[in-house]
Amino acid sequence: MGRLDRISPFLVMDILQEALRTEDVVHMEIGEPDLEPPPGVTEAMERAVRERRYFYTPSLGLWELRERIAEHYYAYYGVEVSPSRVVVTTGTSSAFLLVYALLLSAGERVVLSDPSYPCYKNFAYLLDLEPIMLKVDRSTNYQITPEHLEGLEGYSVVHISTPANPTGSLYEEDNLRALASFCEGRGLYLICDEIYHGLVYEKRERTAIEFSQRAIVINGFSKAFCMPGFRLGWVILPDESLVRKAELILQNLYISAPTLSQYAALEAFDYNHLSRVRDTYKKRRDLLLKELEGVGRLEIVPEGAFYVWLDISQYGLHSYELSLKLLREAKVATTPGVDFGKNKTEKYIRISFAKDGGTLREGAKRIRDYLIR
Ligand SMILES: Cc1ncc(COP(=O)(O)O)c(C=O)c1O
Repeated sequence: MGRLDRISPFLVMDILQEALRTEDVVHMEIGEPDLEPPPGVTEAMERAVRERRYFYTPSLGLWELRERIAEHYYAYYGVEVSPSRVVVTTGTSSAFLLVYALLLSAGERVVLSDPSYPCYKNFAYLLDLEPIMLKVDRSTNYQITPEHLEGLEGYSVVHISTPANPTGSLYEEDNLRALASFCEGRGLYLICDEIYHGLVYEKRERTAIEFSQRAIVINGFSKAFCMPGFRLGWVILPDESLVRKAELILQNLYISAPTLSQYAALEAFDYNHLSRVRDTYKKRRDLLLKELEGVGRLEIVPEGAFYVWLDISQYGLHSYELSLKLLREAKVATTPGVDFGKNKTEKYIRISFAKDGGTLREGAKRIRDYLIR
């Protein structure tokens, strides 16, 4: 089988294509913030244009930005990180490719959860790696635990995300600590995708590097900082020898992350703005959950991110079929659960609440009216 044959299509993109051709559709399929970035960000970008900063930056990113990111770890989590361990990437998307390329050679295995964000396994396939898809469910709040890993052989990397897409599950502190020490104790790498940090509604999120300096954290500006089109992310690597290797990969992969975006991102860590964004999404989550009461079965209240993972098995349709029917007959676009894995995902749809209240109310009404007839 060719490398590309294993890459799964993103069915939500088919839904989106069709949704864009259909009039009067309520979009609840895509996980993209609709709020503005902090005002300082756009000002800084305009300034960078005025100052004609059109050059490449160093491949690891602007030093000032690496310093700002390191300062964020101290200000937000109380963890000291040297800026020399921070690597700036073009979105977290390229960070996954970078980190897999750094840690794994063809044929090696990376542990992922099923369900999880689909690009992880597709990046693994692109590099001829073998993803091991661990089935997770409600019993562990959709989290990988050390018990899942006990007895598993032949892997060197475990990759999780918290809060997770599609479930909104936040790794409990005890489990994150246990997982980090399990991996550290066995010389494994733990990769933690923390892109939804900042969008955690009741609890306080903890970063994996609080529990293990060997953990590799991936994060970015697309979600809580409302800058998806700036295409910027970052990685915290455990040591400088890996940073040097990352530099070699990045020099070849894309030379440097977008320069104007990097200047803009210097102003992204505006915590007042962040708390307004968080409050807005929390209100939207609560509104959507209320509007969807009695529709399907909600197993897990999203603790973070902006998705509701809804069990729709009682309606007797496969999630792709249900998403298509919802689009064609109720004019509301959702994401079929099967996009996120094979572990009973045909029983779920993902509904995004990255939309204003009016849209959410209308979308939920259409879903409710269609399913509860
Ligand atoms: C869990 C998760 N990680 C990473 C990304 C990619 O974000 P970006 O490449 O914009 O940083 C997404 C986007 O939806 C996501 O849901």
